[in-house]
Amino acid sequence: MIQKYVYGTPFETDAVLGQWVPGSGEPAFGTVDLSEGFRFTYSMAEEDIVYGLGEANRGINKRGYRYVSNCTDEPNHTEEKLSLYAAHNFIVVAGEKPFGLFFDYPASLTFDIGYTRSDLLTVFCQGKDLNLYVIDGDTPYSIVRQFRKAIGRSYIPPKFAFGYGQSRWGYRTMKDFRGVVQGYRANHIPLDMVYMDIDYMQDYKDFTVNGENFPDFPAFVREMGEQNIHLVPIIDAGVKVEEGYPVYEEGVKNNFFCKRADGSDFVAVVWPGRTHFPDFLNPEARAWFGEKYRFLLDQGIEGFWNDMNEPAIFFTPESKAEQQQDPMPEIGAFSIPDVPVEEPENMDYQRFYHNVGGSMIRHDRVHNLYGYNMTRAAGEGFDRLTPDRRILMFSRASYIGAHRYGGVWTGDNCSWWSHLLLNLKMLPSLNMCGFLYVGADLGGFGQNTTRDLLLRWLALGVFTPLMRNHSILGSRRQECYQFEHPEDFRHVIGVRYRLLPYLYSEYMKAALRDEMMFRPLAFDFPDDPMAAQVEDQLMLGGEVMITPVYTQNAAGRYVYLPEKMLFVKFLPDGTVSEEVLSAGHHYVAVALNEVPMFIRKGKCIPLAQFAESVAEVDSEHLTLLGCEGAEYVLYDDDGVHKDYENPAHFRTLRKE
Ligand code: GLC
Repeated sequence: MIQKYVYGTPFETDAVLGQWVPGSGEPAFGTVDLSEGFRFTYSMAEEDIVYGLGEANRGINKRGYRYVSNCTDEPNHTEEKLSLYAAHNFIVVAGEKPFGLFFDYPASLTFDIGYTRSDLLTVFCQGKDLNLYVIDGDTPYSIVRQFRKAIGRSYIPPKFAFGYGQSRWGYRTMKDFRGVVQGYRANHIPLDMVYMDIDYMQDYKDFTVNGENFPDFPAFVREMGEQNIHLVPIIDAGVKVEEGYPVYEEGVKNNFFCKRADGSDFVAVVWPGRTHFPDFLNPEARAWFGEKYRFLLDQGIEGFWNDMNEPAIFFTPESKAEQQQDPMPEIGAFSIPDVPVEEPENMDYQRFYHNVGGSMIRHDRVHNLYGYNMTRAAGEGFDRLTPDRRILMFSRASYIGAHRYGGVWTGDNCSWWSHLLLNLKMLPSLNMCGFLYVGADLGGFGQNTTRDLLLRWLALGVFTPLMRNHSILGSRRQECYQFEHPEDFRHVIGVRYRLLPYLYSEYMKAALRDEMMFRPLAFDFPDDPMAAQVEDQLMLGGEVMITPVYTQNAAGRYVYLPEKMLFVKFLPDGTVSEEVLSAGHHYVAVALNEVPMFIRKGKCIPLAQFAESVAEVDSEHLTLLGCEGAEYVLYDDDGVHKDYENPAHFRTLRKE
């Protein structure tokens, strides 16, 4: 059951669509204190585990640290960071009597999960207006499923978006893009998407294409399409201030941009220089911006990524002026503070306003809704522009609710082994919060990758719905064909395509049934105390457990099996090794060019032949891997249209 407790007059976020009953008095779990802002407190038992928070730092079990929901352009996700790009305010406290909490609050919100005092969970914010949803159920997973149902069905991308994609900041010309496609195709490394970062635009202006570099863009999109390649352009939140640029002029004329207190259009400097921010919280502005995607859809584009939508601000005229007035203190004037340093408030977020139903709402009060509503603008736009066809969409910033309109990538990580593991840890938490189409920049965005890191990261990426290799301008080239022995990359990425029927089927079941595609082991083995300890393996779908290698120079890794399972390795010669392992701890050898996974007792999964693009995957002639006599219910459809409910999409396969 979901109970909704209303404090003050909350801002309507549209995160929760239904399925709750009103709560009264104190919440069913914990206490609320409204004397200074809002403060929720719950006394945790020693063995309680806290799951959730979606795209957040640190472990699957969130206990022992603080997290601040405050969408932040944070390119350095080191361990101490409190805020990343997203605000996913849902947690489940798993103990004797499990319960879930969703704090539907659009501004900065702190979760102190046993940080100040190891037995206390406190969630607090400055404001007093919020909706608190308290969910009870028999198990953590039953709580998640109720929550997922209440927040509405997760976004479903087109099937091609389950292929592998190459991205890099810095591809500018047709030659650059053709070179990437040629590099992959010549080496027979599968590829479905090439991402277009900001350099495809004219002067970083949204909904423009550089005419000199792309004299006939639709023809180029077609040329790529003929090779089964989808070009996926980026769209940034800030609209360049430039006379004669229609998006700018229409936005100004219709008051579709965020305003300063004096009513003038707010200016922030981002990639294009001076920009205005579309007021995505205003439904008319949202509809207007959503319509703009037509410019690229009409030229054959079928997917986009929305970026810089925290919104990221390099500086504003106001912040620059302040900096100049406030020079660095003289050496000697520094002192070590005796209270913990909090992440500084971004004063720029207090300088602009949204028009919500005629009232001006200061941005910092609704900050975490901005990226969400940019994605919503796109999603609602696609529903009008291409009602029958799915469009690929994922975003950097998000709030719960955005999961209905798109996926997310987890932002600017680094080419660090620790970020490979962080990628894994975020997956179940994101799924809890409704985000199913998710992935990290494989190989790492910042810093220079290495061949072994990229291979190991790809061996996790083969399982993540969004499988994209992306890197920063100026870093070491990260396309797979740049490294020695490209056949190892062909093989590892090829495993993705062999697993595609299974992964797509499990994704669709998770979306249609409000389930998690990735789960902590404890969700499936609640009576096994050891399973609750595992932070580097995940259950995937109904059949699989994944155990990627995430340490440098490792020849394998330790794994924990809650039950007897089939250890499967995809070997570089295209064969699959199978070994039954008993419950308990094992060390498994995994070479750099192998992909390991486990199949559960009594289960089997479908396998396709190697293919170089999603369109070439033959999902009619599948073999089954796993236990004799096991059955698998496969979901498949054309991957384009939206008739998800058609029972003809399901068929039962049996391993003889
Ligand atoms: C941001 C994005 C990154 C992109 C870059 C340039 O840092 O997170 O993915 O490459 O901007 O557009």
